[in-house]
Amino acid sequence: MKIAIMGAMPEEISPILEKIGSYKTISYAGNKYYEASYRGIDLVIAYSKIGKVFSTLTAATMIEHFGAQKLLFSGVAGAISPTLKVGDLIVATKLAQHDLDITAFGHPFGYVPEGAVFIEADKQMIEMSKEVAKDMGKNVQEGIIATGDQFVANEERKNWIGSTFGADALEMEGGSVAVVCNALEVPFFILRAISDAADMDASFSFDEFLQTSAKESAEFVMKMVDKLAN
Ligand code: ADE
Repeated sequence: MKIAIMGAMPEEISPILEKIGSYKTISYAGNKYYEASYRGIDLVIAYSKIGKVFSTLTAATMIEHFGAQKLLFSGVAGAISPTLKVGDLIVATKLAQHDLDITAFGHPFGYVPEGAVFIEADKQMIEMSKEVAKDMGKNVQEGIIATGDQFVANEERKNWIGSTFGADALEMEGGSVAVVCNALEVPFFILRAISDAADMDASFSFDEFLQTSAKESAEFVMKMVDKLAN
């Protein structure tokens, strides 16, 4: 079994690399990939760089070049739902691209012909995350995540994304990773810890909480990997 663990920024995967300790670094397609053996499973770990294009490239590379059979994403997100506060964890049930817009042709936001507005994450891993949350004594919410090539720091935009997609949190990679995994039939799990509220203070909050929230998410994802290894 080979599992991909992916983040978008160095801060999102460094706690994972620290925990694993020893790994092999491979440079490929303009990025670094880290391979390790961990509790009897093979891991490939990488951060993609921010946004839908880089995350698409990295997810596809992890699957097609490195042979990953499952993909887990760990990172931070901006909260839309008022029940999500800085440091809280959200597991994506399904994901959409909030910046995909051919509504001029009568299509809904987030839709292109032969695509789908929402892509569902793997139900088995979502179930497993409930057990992990219980084991860790953590309160983890499930919800819809909306993705776009935009750091949202604007109440109006955030509320529009919330009402248009029923989204609980937003970020910049999950929706594109979902497209890749869905097309290549690789089960995926997307976890985010809240770093900000996607409002006018978002950039300050993000800078302040990126590291601690990324660590929260990484710890949880590693517990998921532990369960998958059992
Ligand atoms: N990731 C974390 N916070 C975010 C925000 N406000 N907008 C987009 N991506 C984010």
